[in-house]
Amino acid sequence: MKIFIDTADIDEVKEGMTWGVADGITTNPSLIKKAQEKHKVKDMNSYIKNLCKTVGKGKDVSLEVIGTDAKTMISQGLTLYKKFNKVANNVVIKIPVNPATNDDPNFDGIKAIKALASKGIGINTTLIFTPEQAWLAAKAGAKYVSPFAGRIDDDLRKKANITFEKPDYYPATGKEYKEKPLEDNGIISGIHLCKQIRLLLDNFNYKTQIIAASLRNARQIREAALVGAHVATIPFSALTTTLTHYKTAEGMNAFLADTVKEYEAVFK
Ligand code: E4P
Repeated sequence: MKIFIDTADIDEVKEGMTWGVADGITTNPSLIKKAQEKHKVKDMNSYIKNLCKTVGKGKDVSLEVIGTDAKTMISQGLTLYKKFNKVANNVVIKIPVNPATNDDPNFDGIKAIKALASKGIGINTTLIFTPEQAWLAAKAGAKYVSPFAGRIDDDLRKKANITFEKPDYYPATGKEYKEKPLEDNGIISGIHLCKQIRLLLDNFNYKTQIIAASLRNARQIREAALVGAHVATIPFSALTTTLTHYKTAEGMNAFLADTVKEYEAVFK
């Protein structure tokens, strides 16, 4: 499974890439806003160029459009691609599967995916909450589909008035509320959504890869891998939890305490 870091924060990107295991980053307008506020970014063009350069060739940088109709999304996708792909040949354009808002109902996401994918541009389809949305994006030629696993779990808990903190684990096998399984049109958890998408795409041999997105904790990341998500996009804070275990720290303390000077001399 590939690992993307779910961030637009240049500090996290720089640190994450030094680990040597990240295959790219995913951004969205909310993550760009967070980065802008933290780093007081004035020149967003240079900032994004720096992100692309830091991630480097052969890895992916997902950049999202902000338009909500096909014409605008295609034009914005081309702008992002032309401006930033030349830096390290690593830009993927993020298109919402359905950009309809209350003010502007349309179904233009699929049209924009088809048009940009036909030009050979890699598309990451975002805001996927059903297997059928993923299927249509795959049919339109998307390189990636991003099911928002964490947001499904958040939503199921909210509907049942379950209080939770964002990093809390939600079982892949779902939960019951008033003796009925919590579900969203048959989807019982974010990981279940990823699994259903994998089954559906495999049934028809689509090459589209699944990015398990909006991940919240290490156990959910593990489960995304176990159900066959091709990529996990992981916030830096959640990535660090994948390497943490209290017994690992306990063992380290013991090894350090037991180091005799004769063994230390070996390293001199
Ligand atoms: C990634 O592509 C998504 O935009 C991101 O994972 C959303 O995460 P959130 O639900 O924590 O905002």
